[in-house]
Amino acid sequence: MKELSYHILDIVQNSISAGANLIDIVVNENIYEDKLVIIVNDNGKGMSESTIEKVKDPFFTSRDTRKVGLGVPLLYAATQRCQGDLYIDSNLGKGTKIVAVFKYSHIDRAPLGNIWDTMKVIIGCNEDVDFTYTHIYKDQSFNIDTREIKKILKEVPITSPDVLEWIGDYIKDGIKSINGGT
Ligand SMILES: Nc1ncnc2c1ncn2[C@@H]1O[C@H](COP(=O)(O)OP(=O)(O)OP(=O)(O)O)[C@@H](O)[C@H]1O
Ligand SMILES: [Mg+2]
Repeated sequence: MKELSYHILDIVQNSISAGANLIDIVVNENIYEDKLVIIVNDNGKGMSESTIEKVKDPFFTSRDTRKVGLGVPLLYAATQRCQGDLYIDSNLGKGTKIVAVFKYSHIDRAPLGNIWDTMKVIIGCNEDVDFTYTHIYKDQSFNIDTREIKKILKEVPITSPDVLEWIGDYIKDGIKSINGGT
């Protein structure tokens, strides 16, 4: 995969499939430690111990339409290529936290890519799910929370094109304002 934002889309899709209604996404450009950290935290149904053990393996999936699940293994493989690692913290009935760590300056580390359009798609396709997106660059951070936006919008749906356009620009400008986004 060329851009890390595609991996984020995949991992968030898992959270949605797990029935989450609140998903927190964090991209931390920790230049000080030469790390890029991606966190997706959800309040979905969680995984059993045995699922957690198997989930990095591409031949494991709980879906029955095909035998191979690729979302987690692909992200895991990407971290392994960049002197990083992937951590899964999950509790049945509570939720799941996926943490992917990359060496920031590694030559094989894919760029983050177009995360503002990715967030537009994620928010636009999941009206009933709430999301927070936090971007950290060095010691500065930017945050957006769909619960706050929905409060301001009142009866206007967050999925309306004008609102999504605004959300995309807001995230893009927010990341630029803290100099992040690589
Ligand atoms: N956030 C999550 N909450 C609960 N279970 C999860 C979560 N993420 C992954 N899983 C479990 O791990 C399995 C493997 O996930 P993975 O994304 O690798 O493959 P998949 O979703 O089954 O297929 P694909 O992503 O290729 O469409 C899932 O089928 C699901 O059982
Ligand atoms: Mg998946």
